[in-house]
Amino acid sequence: MKGVRVEAPATSANLGAGFDVFGMALSEPVDVLVVEEIEAGVVLEVSGYQVPESPERNLAGYVAGRLLEGTEAGVKIRLEKGVPPGSGLGSSAASAAGAAAGVAVLLGLEVSVEELLRVCAEAERLASGAAHADNAAACLYGGFVCVGTKGYEVLAVEPPEWLEYAVVLPEVRVETRAARRALPERVPLEVHVHDLARAVMFAAGMIRGERRLLRAGMSDWFATPVRSRWVPEFEALERAAVRAGALGMTISGSGPACIALCCRDEQPARVVAEAMAEVYQERGMRCMSFWGKPGEGVRVNGERLSNIL
Ligand code: HSE
Repeated sequence: MKGVRVEAPATSANLGAGFDVFGMALSEPVDVLVVEEIEAGVVLEVSGYQVPESPERNLAGYVAGRLLEGTEAGVKIRLEKGVPPGSGLGSSAASAAGAAAGVAVLLGLEVSVEELLRVCAEAERLASGAAHADNAAACLYGGFVCVGTKGYEVLAVEPPEWLEYAVVLPEVRVETRAARRALPERVPLEVHVHDLARAVMFAAGMIRGERRLLRAGMSDWFATPVRSRWVPEFEALERAAVRAGALGMTISGSGPACIALCCRDEQPARVVAEAMAEVYQERGMRCMSFWGKPGEGVRVNGERLSNIL
């Protein structure tokens, strides 16, 4: 039977003021998908973290179904969920992007990464009620991305080679749908101006590899003040990350995971992750932590997707 093995990593969206626009691929945790050709339809088997298993309600199954429309082919997907759902680490996007990449490469579909992104962004509606593309773009392209919200145009940037991330995930779950509903529909002018300036600095910092700009850019007045109430000990975490040498810390996506960015030559991300985890440990709370360099995004049979399509 013809098949491919896909690794689709966690991603971190927003990164401060880039709400629904900025995303960055992490190197772990990952979803692993084995996609095989079958006679017809979509068959899905799920292991690891618990997510919906019916192909219509699971983003991997849904995306596969969309890509198979108009073909005679069918696929079986074995999805091993390694990206925790409800974590703010792009779990649904990892399933969607992994399935999109696997089905496209397996069946030799004539599609571009841009087209796969459109399908994945639309699929996010199932998970969160809104077609946001930040996590899916980071997963499909790797590195750091800025993505448009209508045509899903992408600016993909290789982050500075010294950049590392530290992520800490407390043992609470936040549904993206609820975290989006809590946000204000209108933004005061001063919030818009503050966040616009921060977003420009952050993106420029990524492109130019300037720590000063990343440090200044990792802040927003729109989403984080509202959502930080769902992140246990948010202020203490931020203080611990910055005191340990991080350039900045913010909520990853809709949370509750938090992400700090670090310059490896100043302070390795491992040390920052430990300092953040200690905040929870000291209070008797459990958490998971991850650290590393930004990742290359989804890999099919070990190869970066953008090298294949
Ligand atoms: N940009 C989305 C949000 C990401 O913050 O709602 C969800 O992980």
